[in-house]
Amino acid sequence: MKGKFITFEGSEGCGKSTQSRLLYEYLKNKGLKVIYLREPGGTAVGEKIRKILLDNGNTVISAICEMFLYMAARAQLVSAVIKPALKKGKIVICDRFLDSTLAYQGYGLGADIKVIRYIGRIATENIQPDLTIFLDLPIKDGLKHRRLKEDRIESRSLRYHRRVRQGYLLLAAKEPRRIKIVKVSQDKDKTQAKIRALVEHYVF
Ligand code: TMP
Repeated sequence: MKGKFITFEGSEGCGKSTQSRLLYEYLKNKGLKVIYLREPGGTAVGEKIRKILLDNGNTVISAICEMFLYMAARAQLVSAVIKPALKKGKIVICDRFLDSTLAYQGYGLGADIKVIRYIGRIATENIQPDLTIFLDLPIKDGLKHRRLKEDRIESRSLRYHRRVRQGYLLLAAKEPRRIKIVKVSQDKDKTQAKIRALVEHYVF
């Protein structure tokens, strides 16, 4: 693939969307061909699946069903958007990717990690990020930034969100070349500066 694939990961309220958008604007202003996506979503079907996944009314979704829904949205995004963009040499920035499923449905809900990896290879057509920024901050600090009306995943217990964070830390320890941990600071410009330094060092 000619392009570069950068993903952002993190627990709730870590400022991931803000930071990934800031990076997108920065690279775009440099004149680079860059696209910005979020998961689940980014395609018509993916946005519909997102609604199902985040709807508080859907109280009985099993861990495996949840995992497949995230994977289904991902498969569509990869084939319709990510793969063609990378082939054209674009930089793709994606707010969440397969690591989210490993952390949230695997380490968080207990779905089998090996199964997630196996299905993940199919859904992603084996496309892996060149760089993954894991924005880390204590769970309680992140949950403070939650929206007033929590969605189905956000409203899970503190213990669940702690498992998700521990999962991310495990993933980062296993793949230190790809996954870089960035400690979130109060000052969002400081966090962004760390991210840009990593992108410039590892991607370009
Ligand atoms: P967002 O809040 O970053 O937009 O992500 C939507 C929610 O979906 C968030 O609570 C994390 C969750 N999620 C998973 O549980 N598994 C996944 O594979 C993905 C992509 C997101």
